[in-house]
Amino acid sequence: MDRDHAATVRRSFTGQAEAFESKRFVGNLVTEGEWVLDHLDPPEGAVALDVAAGSGHAARGLARRVASVVALDLTPAMLEAGRVAAEHEGLRNITFACGDALDLPFLDASFDVVVSRFAAHHFEEPRRLLAEMQRVTRPGGQLMVADLVADNDTAVADEQNRIEQLRDPSHVRCLSATELTQLVDELGVSDLKVEERTTARPVAPWLGQTTKAPRAESTIRAAFDAELAGGTPTGMGPHRRDHELWFEQRFVAVTARRR
Ligand SMILES: C[S@@+](CC[C@H](N)C(=O)[O-])C[C@H]1O[C@@H](n2cnc3c(N)ncnc32)[C@H](O)[C@@H]1O
Repeated sequence: MDRDHAATVRRSFTGQAEAFESKRFVGNLVTEGEWVLDHLDPPEGAVALDVAAGSGHAARGLARRVASVVALDLTPAMLEAGRVAAEHEGLRNITFACGDALDLPFLDASFDVVVSRFAAHHFEEPRRLLAEMQRVTRPGGQLMVADLVADNDTAVADEQNRIEQLRDPSHVRCLSATELTQLVDELGVSDLKVEERTTARPVAPWLGQTTKAPRAESTIRAAFDAELAGGTPTGMGPHRRDHELWFEQRFVAVTARRR
């Protein structure tokens, strides 16, 4: 991974680590995030890997369904928040490991299940992330990538990605649902399944989660207000609930089996 981008990712997520375990900031990830695991069918005694695991929300969901899980991430503070949370939840079958998703420290075909949730948009070359995930998946094993997605209209997608980058400089690009599905399909997999969910969030805690956002807040709010007034679409569905500004996030989970 490019060293400058790795440093940007680490800086951003060191600042966000606490928020990732706070319901106030990431309530929807915690309470609505496990659906991404719905199409997984791990065999008895399965060994799983969560790539770019952060604090391991997906890893912890998996830990209840498989024999053991490795949660790998680039940012030690995220892993530490996850290790503490896993201990609190009494989960003893997760190992938290620091490493680069583009150079996984595992032999080929090491895992029955390999997942990555809500992280592909931080990669300059998501194709490389998927190729590396496939490499460490056993033939017949499952891989799942879930991510925030952008509109199919590239002008709308560009506006969404511009806003996301203002809030978090480690954001590279949300793919469209079609692009994400195509990337997985191009791996030559079988049993491809796609599931999509849209969730609404209040804008204030979303902005409060990243350290960069307070400086970008007025620009981001202005973009949402402009769309509400009939201006440029952001692809983020801004709306008001009891006078508070909310927006929407669309997630897609693509699950497939390695041949
Ligand atoms: C938005 S968080 C998602 C965390 C977690 N997967 C979840 O669903 O809650 C993105 C994570 O990707 C990690 N990340 C970004 N690039 C990475 C890379 N090349 N290798 C490993 N982790 C990476 C960041 O450190 C961060 O923890």
